[in-house]
Amino acid sequence: MDLLWRTNTSKMAYVGNDSSSTGPHNHVEWQRNLDERLYNPNPEALAFFRVETGIQDDEELKTHIFSIQKEAFSICKYPCIRVFEFMTLKMTRVSAYDEVLKLGRDRKGAIFVDLGCCFGNDSRKLVLDGYPIQNIVAADLRKVLWDLGHKLFRSTPQSFPVPFIEGDIFDPTFLTIEPPIPTSSVHINSPLDLRTLTSLNPLRGQVSALFAGSFFHLFSFDQQYEIARALAGLLSPQPGSVLFGLHGAIAGRGFWQPEGVQYKMACHSPESWKEMWYEIFGSGEGGDGGIEVRASLVEEVGGPTFFGTYPENTKPRALLDWVVIRK
Ligand SMILES: C[S@@+](CC[C@H](N)C(=O)[O-])C[C@H]1O[C@@H](n2cnc3c(N)ncnc32)[C@H](O)[C@@H]1O
Repeated sequence: MDLLWRTNTSKMAYVGNDSSSTGPHNHVEWQRNLDERLYNPNPEALAFFRVETGIQDDEELKTHIFSIQKEAFSICKYPCIRVFEFMTLKMTRVSAYDEVLKLGRDRKGAIFVDLGCCFGNDSRKLVLDGYPIQNIVAADLRKVLWDLGHKLFRSTPQSFPVPFIEGDIFDPTFLTIEPPIPTSSVHINSPLDLRTLTSLNPLRGQVSALFAGSFFHLFSFDQQYEIARALAGLLSPQPGSVLFGLHGAIAGRGFWQPEGVQYKMACHSPESWKEMWYEIFGSGEGGDGGIEVRASLVEEVGGPTFFGTYPENTKPRALLDWVVIRK
């Protein structure tokens, strides 16, 4: 029953979301020219890219990054690629980041999933900050973006051996919706070789930390709920295990529709986001499903036009900094 609903929803989603022949999410409003003036990395980001690429000369680095950006944007016109968001060390800015680094240090075999990883910039930063590389797995709809990540960072699967799994979050062969494992259950840390994974399904109840950056806001409210249910089933019951992320949001749940365009984003508020997760985890285990949800609005840089993506817009949108943590 569940599976049927899921499959149907997924198919419907793609009918609704495909606005171009190049794939989902290539909205007509996102077909903007690239603009080199948007390249504005801060010193920390520059330092990270110098270390990861081995390119010390700033002009050479810029040329290199432009060329990969152009290649990626020709495949997929995400505004985040156009505005160099992949250079902003996004995951380090979220409130749960230090807790995640601590999990990596303190919990043996703490599996980390970078969902919707794109180039893998956040996984690379995580490794640089000390998270054990052998416990990280990255996943995305498009392997071509991960491969471009190797090109961007001048790495290979040998020099940066984080396993990558290609898959669609709505495809049950990639991730089936299963109920969350109760905190009270005995946790069995099955030894898993992440390199052998071909889907996320074997990770049920095994994930210590999962990051979904700029991910949920790509989807409708129904789809966001479906994704959240699927991710809940992955979370380890061990106290301190986290699902976390950062994505578009507004103060009152609803659609953010920039002026002058047809595109609109389904945005949760901190309150509706918390309600969604408590509903999914259920009222057992002390009335809160054994989880705590933190969610707060933070400022979106780029202003209401989001770096010129929506030139006529004056209505700002925020970002939701959120974490679902096992108590
Ligand atoms: C906007 S990018 C965010 C990239 C990165 N996480 C960040 O925070 O900058 C969204 C990513 O999600 C991936 N994605 C989109 N739809 C997906 C789906 N149905 N299943 C899995 N990944 C998907 C895209 O290919 C893309 O790499």
